[in-house]
Amino acid sequence: MSEADTKLYTPTPEQAQGAYVAGMEAYQALVAEAEADYEGYWGRLAKELISWKQPFTQVLDSSNAPFFKWFADGKLNASYNCLDRNVEGGKGDKTAIIFEADGGEVTKVTYSELLDRTCRLANALKAQGVQKGDRVVIYIAMSIDGVVAMQACARIGATHSVVFGGFSAQSLRDRIEDTGAKLIITADHQVRGGKQLPLKGIVDEALALGGCDSVAKVLVVKRSGAGIAMTEGRDVWMDDALAGQDNVCEPEWVEAEHPLFLLYTSGSTGKPKGVQHSTGGYLLHAALTTKWTFDLKDSDVFWCTADIGWVTGHTYITYGPLALGGTEIVFEGVPTYPDAGRFWKMIQDHKVSIFYTAPTAIRSLIKAAESNEAVHPKSYDLSSLRILGSVGEPINPAAWEWYHQHVGGGRCPIVDTFWQTETGGHMITPLPGATPLVPGSCTLPFPGIQAAVVDETGKEVPWGQGGILVVKKPWPSMIRTIWGDPERFKKSYYPEDFKGQLYLAGDGAIRDEKTGYFTITGRIDDVLNVSGHRMGTMEIESALVSCTELVAEAAVVGRPDETTGEAICAFVVLKRPRPTGDEAKAIAKQLRDHIAKEIGPIAKPKDIRFGDNLPKTRSGKIMRRLLRSVAKNEAVTQDTSTLENPAILDQLGQAY
Ligand code: WT7
Repeated sequence: MSEADTKLYTPTPEQAQGAYVAGMEAYQALVAEAEADYEGYWGRLAKELISWKQPFTQVLDSSNAPFFKWFADGKLNASYNCLDRNVEGGKGDKTAIIFEADGGEVTKVTYSELLDRTCRLANALKAQGVQKGDRVVIYIAMSIDGVVAMQACARIGATHSVVFGGFSAQSLRDRIEDTGAKLIITADHQVRGGKQLPLKGIVDEALALGGCDSVAKVLVVKRSGAGIAMTEGRDVWMDDALAGQDNVCEPEWVEAEHPLFLLYTSGSTGKPKGVQHSTGGYLLHAALTTKWTFDLKDSDVFWCTADIGWVTGHTYITYGPLALGGTEIVFEGVPTYPDAGRFWKMIQDHKVSIFYTAPTAIRSLIKAAESNEAVHPKSYDLSSLRILGSVGEPINPAAWEWYHQHVGGGRCPIVDTFWQTETGGHMITPLPGATPLVPGSCTLPFPGIQAAVVDETGKEVPWGQGGILVVKKPWPSMIRTIWGDPERFKKSYYPEDFKGQLYLAGDGAIRDEKTGYFTITGRIDDVLNVSGHRMGTMEIESALVSCTELVAEAAVVGRPDETTGEAICAFVVLKRPRPTGDEAKAIAKQLRDHIAKEIGPIAKPKDIRFGDNLPKTRSGKIMRRLLRSVAKNEAVTQDTSTLENPAILDQLGQAY
């Protein structure tokens, strides 16, 4: 980034005034505090932001690194922190959640009501035999019920594992089996863009696939109840399970390290990993980042558009904003239904002041707004907005500028928050009242987070030089392990290359020569980011080759896409002659449907190209870097001398 094209947006006095972290001096003071006394810093914040039943005496325990423990002898309850203490603090009648369903119906709950509902479900779960330490899988629509389900698990010390409603029966089954869940919470269906999609039916399918013997009960939230088959002895309507349950449930006081949740995410190899998060350290960072990155105040209306099936929904819907006693929006639906003005209309209707969404959504709404004034942000009153956020993938400067100008009216700072499922909360992000913004850069580490850019040996590279993004010190909300696979945890995140001393994020990054600002340059492993959804190329390849009647071999790579950030591009060798024309189209559709069944519709490749073979080295290794060029329709400029079959590149290049 040269100085000439670097545009700097420095917080105005109005933006800085009254912010929790006001000005760069305040930011630097926090950074310095953490540097001078790392444990003292986190210990102070843990006492300030979290209510402990039993105070901790030790902040960080590194005796079994990299299995770090935080606040280990402290006891707390996440649901107490999110609900009871707000009610006790006089916020009982404050609106906790404003829920808007796909069809536009609005439901509101206060903190007292949310506590009531959570306690009743917590008691119902106990009555169904769920105890502290048991796992509960949640496969549900975006709803107040979804948040209540998570909070109820937390209340009784059950570990929840939410599975995104877009995953297939097969993926759901794999996750249920891996967690060994005792109970599943689901709903009859969900609605997206006016379309009704089954949930309970997919749970039935998943359980019928086998391997889920741990599951004793399935609780089903009824929306319409139409056409739902209930398995006697296993399935229970939520209303029946809740009937007669007391609205008081003493929280289970758990150790700070008690697993609050497992959330599955894709890695570069093998099956998805169950990322295990703690209760104390996680909740601290959820609350702290909501406070400082979003500057969430009592008077704000906060809207994070993510689904609770992803980590963003966990941290910035279920836990962070509630831990601070905020008012938030929960939304079921898609940004383009009933039209592409949905987000802007909801911001206007509910007077949203803090809005947090993904670049892919912004890019698709830009497209729509440019061709239809009625869905352009200028056709709505967005004057309630004061802070905007971006998450999930790099935001390109053009989308950033549009977001800033047309959604934020030029007056709202944009916090471009870099983090991951594994990090639990924000890692590198501007703070809205402090950090001068540069479009396309996530700027500087959150106070207390020690991010760096290193080379293959773990040595820090000079600013201005690209490298590997790492975190030098453990932090409270970090992943604790991969459920059931501690070795994989070590290998994935604390690799030997860095002597087990550095947390490997899996992203490349570069720091600005002058400011030290971070820009994320994308994954350095075989993980793709499609519309902010994380996907392993190996997973998609396995799904393709599992279509054994058709597929001989497959290789999957990503290519840049204007709207979705990256697009999935699959190169496929069939067990029959290479198809062309309509036949190729028909087989491509068949393969896409197969992938939707194996993983979920989100994993469907945008491009499928058929070849007689794949580019391979003489030892038979598929050369994916060449395929990346072909996928981009770029001339292959790399060295192809080690290639066994160079002519195949022409064929794959033309096969589109
Ligand atoms: C990967 C993590 C963060 C919660 C949602 C995604 C990419 C995330 C940014 C950003 C550039 C970003 C990274 C990261 N990513 N935020 N602001 N700028 N890249 O969580 O599914 O665990 O994905 O998303 O590549 O490693 P996730």
